[in-house]
Amino acid sequence: MHDSDEIILHLSMLIIFLCFGLVNGQNYNVLDFGAIGDGQTDDSMAFVQAWNATCRGEENNNTLVIPSGQTFLLQPIKFNGPCKSTSIKIQLDGVIIAPSNIKAWSNPKSQMWISFSSVFGLIVDGSGKIDGGGSSFWELNLTASQRPTALHINKCNNLTINGISSINSPKTHLSIKSCNYVAISKINLLAPETSPNTDGIDIQNSTNINIFDSTIQTGDDCIAIKTGSFNINITQINCGPGHGISVGSLGADGANDAVSGVQVTHCTFNRTMNGARIKTWEGGQGYARNISFENITLINAKNPIIIDQQYIDKGRHNAKEDSAVAISNIKYVGFHGTTLNEDAITLKCSVTTSCKNVVMDDNNITMENGKTPKVHCENVEGESDGSDLLRDCFKSNNTS
Ligand SMILES: *[C@@H]1O[C@H](CO)[C@@H](O)[C@H](O)[C@H]1NC(C)=O
Ligand SMILES: *[C@@H]1O[C@H](CO)[C@@H](O)[C@H](O)[C@H]1NC(C)=O
Ligand SMILES: *[C@@H]1O[C@H](CO)[C@@H](O)[C@H](O)[C@H]1NC(C)=O
Ligand SMILES: *[C@@H]1O[C@H](CO)[C@@H](O)[C@H](O)[C@H]1NC(C)=O
Ligand SMILES: *[C@@H]1O[C@H](CO)[C@@H](O)[C@H](O)[C@H]1NC(C)=O
Ligand SMILES: *[C@@H]1O[C@H](CO)[C@@H](O)[C@H](O)[C@H]1NC(C)=O
Ligand SMILES: *[C@@H]1O[C@H](CO)[C@@H](O)[C@H](O)[C@H]1NC(C)=O
Ligand SMILES: *[C@@H]1O[C@H](CO)[C@@H](O)[C@H](O)[C@H]1NC(C)=O
Ligand SMILES: *[C@@H]1O[C@H](CO)[C@@H](O)[C@H](O)[C@H]1NC(C)=O
Ligand SMILES: *[C@@H]1O[C@H](CO)[C@@H](O)[C@H](O)[C@H]1NC(C)=O
Repeated sequence: MHDSDEIILHLSMLIIFLCFGLVNGQNYNVLDFGAIGDGQTDDSMAFVQAWNATCRGEENNNTLVIPSGQTFLLQPIKFNGPCKSTSIKIQLDGVIIAPSNIKAWSNPKSQMWISFSSVFGLIVDGSGKIDGGGSSFWELNLTASQRPTALHINKCNNLTINGISSINSPKTHLSIKSCNYVAISKINLLAPETSPNTDGIDIQNSTNINIFDSTIQTGDDCIAIKTGSFNINITQINCGPGHGISVGSLGADGANDAVSGVQVTHCTFNRTMNGARIKTWEGGQGYARNISFENITLINAKNPIIIDQQYIDKGRHNAKEDSAVAISNIKYVGFHGTTLNEDAITLKCSVTTSCKNVVMDDNNITMENGKTPKVHCENVEGESDGSDLLRDCFKSNNTS
């Protein structure tokens, strides 16, 4: 090819690119739909209209712009799809706040504050923040079901969430339900250590999820993986305060629940209540399998490794143990650091199924006060690298 041909080729590619740039990717700024952004005026209507334009617009790859430097007050709001565009972006650089007092909520009984449903190819990106104003809910001692999740995403495909923050969610910060192909990165989730049920990220009925490079400091699980979730990778998460990264709870009220293919790597549990946790109710069915926790840094974490097959939540009574969620192929490798309580490793497995093929390797968990942490195992089959700490774990029920 001649140099000049090559230049022409490059030019025409550039022109095609520019033309597409014009017909695709229309921006819809909430300010152009009447949003005020003074933190006092209810901007919900403007957001609904801006969303409608973004979602129904004929162009492809539209963007809803929430500009920086302003604070938008939103009542419980639903962004529903499907949209005409194959991909929709929310450019969130501003701050979104909920009414600061529960009395000012249009519907204080809503289960979600901001929700997206059936929006495919959704991208939520930016340096903005959502503030669910949880304290007015917490102060009333309401039960979890009486408090909304801050950001709920239901039925999605190819979801990307990057850069944003959530503070003081009344309940869960971010919940992902019935989604496939999800990437969540560089987010910050923040709520007081004492705030009730403020899980960082809840995943349910969802597959092919990557969560990485994020900080979660909250009052409940940093990440909770619930039934119907498969192929979940979690890496480089700073968790704490919080209750660690949990699979479960599974099998409540005899449910047949399943989770498999969870890899948690290079995470830090800093002063968390738990670390790597699997929790199931007695009397459940189904399985939790192929779950690994690898290269985990512990900083005075309580219960850094825990399986609890007799999980009971406050205010509920447990069924009789005649079945259990089957736990198998579980790996704990490369846990290093300190624990606050002596019971560093607790594997309390079910008499009916026992935990199978549990592997422990290269774990070194110490206590700052110099005491030797303890290991407590019930009905566990598996193997360890034979370090002193784990000598007794697998003795009662060895696979070999
Ligand atoms: C939603 O957008 C469509 C297409 O842009 C428009 O025809 C319709 O009037 C809008 N509806 C509302 C409620 O704004
Ligand atoms: C639309 O967005 C998708 C996903 O980000 C991208 O792969 C595609 O190239 C975009 N299309 C255009 C025409 O910009
Ligand atoms: C909520 O519970 C706390 C601690 O138990 C108590 O001090 C407070 O009075 C309760 N608040 C309400 C509104 O019931
Ligand atoms: C979603 O992602 C999958 C796998 O990466 C890809 O095959 C599919 O085309 C994507 N769909 C859309 C609508 O972008
Ligand atoms: C789980 O998600 C799939 C779509 O991925 C959906 O068809 C199904 O109804 C969902 N099931 C539940 C129990 O939500
Ligand atoms: C998670 O990591 C494993 C191993 O590196 C890889 O095979 C799998 O495809 C990853 N899953 C996702 C959702 O990226
Ligand atoms: C652990 O948490 C403490 C208190 O929140 C904080 O000061 C410290 O920097 C954290 N350590 C790491 C390594 O993140
Ligand atoms: C679990 O992993 C094993 C190999 O490690 C694989 O053969 C099996 O298909 C996996 N099962 C599930 C449910 O992911
Ligand atoms: C964990 O760390 C070890 C030692 O640094 C390394 O060999 C291994 O590949 C790491 N595992 C993962 C999943 O990153
Ligand atoms: C375990 O960690 C402690 C504290 O970092 C260290 O002193 C000790 O040598 C380590 N033990 C092993 C077997 O690596």
